[in-house]
Amino acid sequence: MAWTQESARQAEADAIEAIELPLLLEAIRQRYGYDFRDYAPASLKRCVHRAMQRETLASISALQDRVVHDPGYMSRFLDAVTVDVTAMFRDPSFYRVFRQKVVPSLRQLPVIRIWHAGCSSGQEVYSMAILLQEEGLLDRTKLYATDINERLLAQGRDAIYPIKHMRDNTVNYQKAGGHGQFSDYYTAKHDSVLLRDFLRGNVVWAVHNLVTDASFNEFHVILCRNVMIYFNRQLQGRVHRLFYDSLAAAGVLGLGRGESLDFTPHGESYELLQGGEKLYRKVR
Ligand SMILES: C[S@@+](CC[C@H](N)C(=O)[O-])C[C@H]1O[C@@H](n2cnc3c(N)ncnc32)[C@H](O)[C@@H]1O
Repeated sequence: MAWTQESARQAEADAIEAIELPLLLEAIRQRYGYDFRDYAPASLKRCVHRAMQRETLASISALQDRVVHDPGYMSRFLDAVTVDVTAMFRDPSFYRVFRQKVVPSLRQLPVIRIWHAGCSSGQEVYSMAILLQEEGLLDRTKLYATDINERLLAQGRDAIYPIKHMRDNTVNYQKAGGHGQFSDYYTAKHDSVLLRDFLRGNVVWAVHNLVTDASFNEFHVILCRNVMIYFNRQLQGRVHRLFYDSLAAAGVLGLGRGESLDFTPHGESYELLQGGEKLYRKVR
């Protein structure tokens, strides 16, 4: 009996949320221009609940009231609703294969443009800058670091990171095939590290929303790692179109470990570079 009542209550709560969630997303879209309607529903719902908990709000409608009437709250909502987990040389084998399979073709180019789409607080960008420095290519590379979240980009621009992550970062760097001493790339102060200036010089930081913004250049490499797992299939398809249109002939697309080009409209346009990593070359 108790179980039946509890499951009936839960079913009613779910039915109400099924009304409230689309209304919240539509309100945010109209008020601020952010469009989350094609994010993957299960993870989006978890993130919305996280936002409610952080604000101690009892319902999605109450969250909608907060977000619509308090523009200052929108950036906190963005923090709750996007997952910003990242690390330097995340998935080290990705960078090892990048050195082996992609760097040789980059050597042929007089200038190199790399787009890090959804770069979070920049660790992925600086990992690439270190790799390119060691391969003698950083001077002729421009790295475009974009994300939907300005707060994360500001962290990346500052290039200051917690010292407590440096041990793991060093292990990743070595596994990624780093040639030097990882500690040569930063100076430590108290509980933070500041990355060296030469790593920061060739990076352009800009807000770019993959859902609503257009391409802004032609790139030889695009990395969009661990971003599209939060999008539904339809939105993934649209973003793949954007990347296809933004890649130069024979350009390289790098995805996260749990992502792939399977079931996207552009699967046939790329070949997987050997090495077991999600690195694809545009072939047609
Ligand atoms: C899990 S992090 C991935 C960071 C990094 N690429 C990595 O693999 O370590 C996902 C990032 O995607 C960003 N993001 C989410 N939706 C986005 C969108 N519509 N346009 C651009 N960036 C987005 C988030 O703000 C977050 O920084």
